[in-house]
Amino acid sequence: MGTEQVDQIRRAALGAIESVGDAQELDAVRVEYLGRKGRVKALLATLGHLPEAERPARGEAINALKAELAAALSARHVVLSGAERKRAEARAAVDVTLPGRGEVAGAEHPLKTTLKRIERLFVGAGFEVAEGPEIEDEYYNFEALNIPPDHPARAMHDTFYLADGRLLRTHTSPVQIRHIKKIGGPPVWMISPGRVYRRDSDLTHTPMFHQIEGLVIDEGIHMGHLKWVLGEFIKAFFECELDLRFRPSYFPFTEPSAELDVACVRCDGAGCRVCSGSGWLEVLGCGMVHPRVLAGVGIDPERYTGFAFGMGVERLAMLRYRVEDLRRFFENDVRFLAQFA
Ligand code: DAH
Repeated sequence: MGTEQVDQIRRAALGAIESVGDAQELDAVRVEYLGRKGRVKALLATLGHLPEAERPARGEAINALKAELAAALSARHVVLSGAERKRAEARAAVDVTLPGRGEVAGAEHPLKTTLKRIERLFVGAGFEVAEGPEIEDEYYNFEALNIPPDHPARAMHDTFYLADGRLLRTHTSPVQIRHIKKIGGPPVWMISPGRVYRRDSDLTHTPMFHQIEGLVIDEGIHMGHLKWVLGEFIKAFFECELDLRFRPSYFPFTEPSAELDVACVRCDGAGCRVCSGSGWLEVLGCGMVHPRVLAGVGIDPERYTGFAFGMGVERLAMLRYRVEDLRRFFENDVRFLAQFA
């Protein structure tokens, strides 16, 4: 038995290591050669039969073989485990080289954007923002606003009544009364945004919608102030000069009352489907606060005067964004909403 035997085992072991196909076979080779009862151990056992002078060199050769095989085994293990991972990935059929899927970020609802925009414009002009409850008493929603008991708005088919006699406010006007009571009296410069409810549901009406109320009370306030404030607001809101028209109207809580029309934003007054051929679009109701409303909250109508206005947020958003169906705002179809992001 000579060094050939060491070489022979080396060749056989290296050949076996190279030819195995997976980690399990590789482990069998490790056991065969480096295991406790393996061929390298057996080789070491033969040292005792050698002449003493040859033992150190042979021992060294066997240890070198051991180290070489251990290195070869671990190198092969790295290769095989890499290959196995690839096979596992292929089995799972995931292409890890595919680009990731994008995430769609949410955005503010266009009605909220419109509401905040309107608020910002009035706050910039010195108005204070006030809020009131959506569940109201008849007193605030009707009586204090000079809406008589036989007024159609009070009818069951227009208003949602609660079992206890209260109701869902039909407009933001009751906040006028609440705000005056809260701050005690003039001067008043207030706007009030919020949800309102009516028993209406068709192409252009939803049971819930949004309004912004405005109220100014001070000494010497006249209709010129009303006209100027609303004119400036419309200009700022639509970001262009539009022809305006104040058309006489009727609201129980204002006298005189008017509706403000703007030249149709689509056809610029020529007449189209959006303005039903009239060339004008109604955007809000307004007027000088009725003396009876002032007196009702303890304000002397001989000394103070005021103006008020109320506008529909959906309507303004539709005109500004050229949305022709009101219901789009409430369907929450993300394809629609994403266009405003
Ligand atoms: N409250 C009215 C409505 O809902 C809108 C309105 C008109 C409010 C004239 C006002 C106003 O403050 O002066 O139809």
